[in-house]
Amino acid sequence: MRRKLAAGNWKMNGRTSDLDQIDALEAAHNDADVDILICPPASLLARMSARTTKIAVGGQDCHAATTGAHTGDISADMLIDAGATHVILGHSERRTDHGETDDDARAKARAALDAGLIAVICVGETLAEREAANTLDIISGQLAGSIPDAANGTNMVVAYEPVWAIGTGLVPSTDQIGEVHDFIRTKLEARFGEGVGRSVRLLYGGSVKGSNAAEIFAVSNVDGALVGGASLTAEAFSPIITALDAS
Ligand code: 13P
Repeated sequence: MRRKLAAGNWKMNGRTSDLDQIDALEAAHNDADVDILICPPASLLARMSARTTKIAVGGQDCHAATTGAHTGDISADMLIDAGATHVILGHSERRTDHGETDDDARAKARAALDAGLIAVICVGETLAEREAANTLDIISGQLAGSIPDAANGTNMVVAYEPVWAIGTGLVPSTDQIGEVHDFIRTKLEARFGEGVGRSVRLLYGGSVKGSNAAEIFAVSNVDGALVGGASLTAEAFSPIITALDAS
């Protein structure tokens, strides 16, 4: 059985005053039978993790090295030191803003697993790639390139985030989501064996909201969501957690 996961990616949003959103989420979902994860900016990690026991806290990136002369970067071990248990890697905004490749994502993921973090590895096609009917090839390449051999269902989560659905309000049809999630499951089973492949949680991400969450969570092989904009307030994120718990 895969435990469901509602994950929020705050991206470059959030100040000290936003930490009370965590108190509200914890109060509303203390009895929820799903995992809840928030990945705030690094500036809030330690204070957020000190504030909650119910909600897991994660980073949004880490360096592949453990320490050294890398100005502005943060290591997996530093994320753990700040209270993180997870880290998002290979997000399309890292790939676009910082030119990160599959090799970069895999090296970072290896460092994260070595340090003891759970890596949330993101894959997803652009609109041009979908329109050219290349979606499954792109996903296949990203999975092969970004996931390290040491990954399994305990230390890795895979998030399917079509680039064209992130922050746009556009959402793939449930058939399109199901096709990609089933494909990812098949690929993981082929690479890691059926048992491990079946144990990896698969999240959908891209314009998830309270209003569309239930239909997305009804799709096969969708084990939760990675939510951007609608994770920034307890008011917006709560209905998504409720829908996942009910699914
Ligand atoms: P939105 O939910 O804002 O579309 O962002 C999705 C995302 O990129 C989560 O990592």
